[in-house]
Amino acid sequence: MTTKTSDFPYIHGFSSTEQERLRKQARFSEQIVYRDIDFSHAGNILEVGCGVGAQTEVLLRRFPDLHITGIDFSEKQLAAASANLASLPYTDGRYQLQHMDATNMGFKPRSFDGAFLCWVLEHVPNPLRVLSEVRRVLQPGARVFITEVLNSSFFLDPYSPNLNKYWVAFNDHQLEVGGDPFVGAKLGNMLLALGYRDVRTEVKTWHLDNRNPDKRQEIIAYWTELLLSAADQLIQKQAVTAELVEKMTDELKRVQSDPNAVFFYSFVQATATVY
Ligand SMILES: C[S@@+](CC[C@H](N)C(=O)[O-])C[C@H]1O[C@@H](n2cnc3c(N)ncnc32)[C@H](O)[C@@H]1O
Repeated sequence: MTTKTSDFPYIHGFSSTEQERLRKQARFSEQIVYRDIDFSHAGNILEVGCGVGAQTEVLLRRFPDLHITGIDFSEKQLAAASANLASLPYTDGRYQLQHMDATNMGFKPRSFDGAFLCWVLEHVPNPLRVLSEVRRVLQPGARVFITEVLNSSFFLDPYSPNLNKYWVAFNDHQLEVGGDPFVGAKLGNMLLALGYRDVRTEVKTWHLDNRNPDKRQEIIAYWTELLLSAADQLIQKQAVTAELVEKMTDELKRVQSDPNAVFFYSFVQATATVY
């Protein structure tokens, strides 16, 4: 596919800071994201929205017999994925990357025996269309694993009013650019509507408090980067002011050093089979 897509609307942008954030994110969330993902019976899977290859790297490491075709709509992300994967010792000959729109895939029907999507449907204007394409290119018996956001579940203590204002603007912006920050809760209905079978969803939660202060600190630092990835866009469209961003950043610093802080966020993982 040759469509030029260097600047399609995308809330996080494509800076090198953002690309590094994706790598950190995959490592940081590996334990909880991959706990129930099993591709040990698959040989040739499709990764939709592979970004900088951060999950590709994890998948190839965890499943040594896997070959992955990663697609992404951004050439910048694919260039970073290519450099990242080529630097790893265990990836040689085990992946290919293609520039492609997930809503219009150039693959023949039944090309793959598994599919993996992580944090991508939240960014596409028509997630049903993507899941329909995934179904078309999967062989009967193949499983799909989808991990997606549910941004309404976010809670932070101590209460941080500027952060809450920013979060509303962040989610509104994601909706306005055609994404869906609440898509996780809708995955079950979408998969059923498209005729997938054995549809299962699991709500996975980071609930971090005094039982695990190190992980709590780590996640608040990661969350700060996630929030700030949209700051320039939000300031530019006057959805937030630079002052609000500053106040939010101060609140996050305060929460991070609070001995009784609580971080809570749930996301949804769905799996289903194609027949
Ligand atoms: C948040 S990143 C996640 C990347 C990767 N799955 C991960 O977890 O590290 C979302 C990716 O989806 C890609 N994307 C957005 N819309 C797309 C589309 N229509 N087709 C293919 N990729 C798309 C973006 O370019 C971006 O790389």
